[in-house]
Amino acid sequence: MCFDLTEEQLQIEEMVRSLARNEFAPKAAEIDEASRYPEENMRKLAELGLLGMLYPAEYGGSEAGPVAYAIAVREVAAACASTAVGMAVTNMVGEAIFRFGTVEQRRKYLPALASGKGAGGFGLTEPSAGSDAFGIATTAVREGDSYILNGSKVFITNGSRACVTIVVAVTAREPKKEISAFLVEPGLRGFSVGKPEHKMGLRGSDTVSLSFDDCRVATENMLGAAGEGFRIAMAALDGGRIGISFQAVGIARAALEAAIAYAKERKQFDRPIAEFQAIQWMLADAATELDAAQLLAFRAAALKEKGKPFTREASMAKVFSSEAGNRACHKAVQILGGYGYIRDYPVERHLRDIKVSTIYEGTSEIQRVVIARELLRRASR
Ligand code: CAA
Repeated sequence: MCFDLTEEQLQIEEMVRSLARNEFAPKAAEIDEASRYPEENMRKLAELGLLGMLYPAEYGGSEAGPVAYAIAVREVAAACASTAVGMAVTNMVGEAIFRFGTVEQRRKYLPALASGKGAGGFGLTEPSAGSDAFGIATTAVREGDSYILNGSKVFITNGSRACVTIVVAVTAREPKKEISAFLVEPGLRGFSVGKPEHKMGLRGSDTVSLSFDDCRVATENMLGAAGEGFRIAMAALDGGRIGISFQAVGIARAALEAAIAYAKERKQFDRPIAEFQAIQWMLADAATELDAAQLLAFRAAALKEKGKPFTREASMAKVFSSEAGNRACHKAVQILGGYGYIRDYPVERHLRDIKVSTIYEGTSEIQRVVIARELLRRASR
């Protein structure tokens, strides 16, 4: 498998890296400190076509493809991880609407997402249904030309900023549980947004609960057919997990760069600590693991770009990148010592920001379930 980037992908990498370094990175600490949604960053991403990278210009997108998208997420994450997750979820939602939506749904929502009119929300998780996504309890009951939604969703990224949220709900229990997906717009009667969560990291990203209390959604807002909602959610997450892999690689790369710069400057025992083997080994291990993570993540993105199955590869990339990224950020804090533990340096933020990558869009444990199931299925053929 060849990972040489095309001319266009290299241009996108250069453009996003320069934007992220010059405009996003200088504000990242303030955004974190104030738990401020990076509105202006999202606007800038929209202007550059980076919020609709996975669907065509006909619907307002830039159709740059999964590999270019992955690179863009990585570059943004290295500067401001909160912005990167807002960007990633918006792209994921847009792609799902493009793949599973009607022409009318595409026309209605995709230009709005790509132009930054609003972000995209993905309403799957509930208070009692996280890893067991099939266990959701939110209901959608057909009544004439509408569905009436009741229930609640939690930890919804972009939830209060979304111009459209994919909400997954139970539409039948008999003869077997049937889950469907709906496109829900803000302002509907019976749809309310909870207060922002006070988080450990990604403090600039918008994370809220959503409540549905007899909320009427038109039947034409069903995404896909009745009963296809779980499959749609899982397919969206397959792609989403590639984005989170690259987010983790980006955050960890920033931490590693900060650790290298510090190790060359910081003197102890009359010499830069970079000259000590203990520090060199930490740097070497982190760099090796991040390269391996990135190769796994590129493999998943390249398979997706070619239209080949990539569920297992996305889960492998996600579990490895998020865990290796966490290890790299821990090492960076260790290398900076006391300075790594205070807010004057960025590495403690990187460590707080990267933690959730082993949790959201499927925990590390769930990624291993997905990988193992596929291995066992293959073995039993
Ligand atoms: N693509 C398409 N269809 C899929 C699929 C995939 N990747 N994975 C499963 N399906 C289909 C199956 O084929 C099956 O269909 P049939 O009934 O027609 O056979 C159906 O979905 C049920 O599949 P499973 O039997 O595998 O379902 P399960 O209940 O045993 O568990 C799971 C599946 C992998 C554990 C799943 O529940 C899961 O991924 N859990 C984690 C949830 C998650 O990632 N949540 C993240 C929240 S969103 C988020 O974090 C975003 C954010 O804000 C940043």
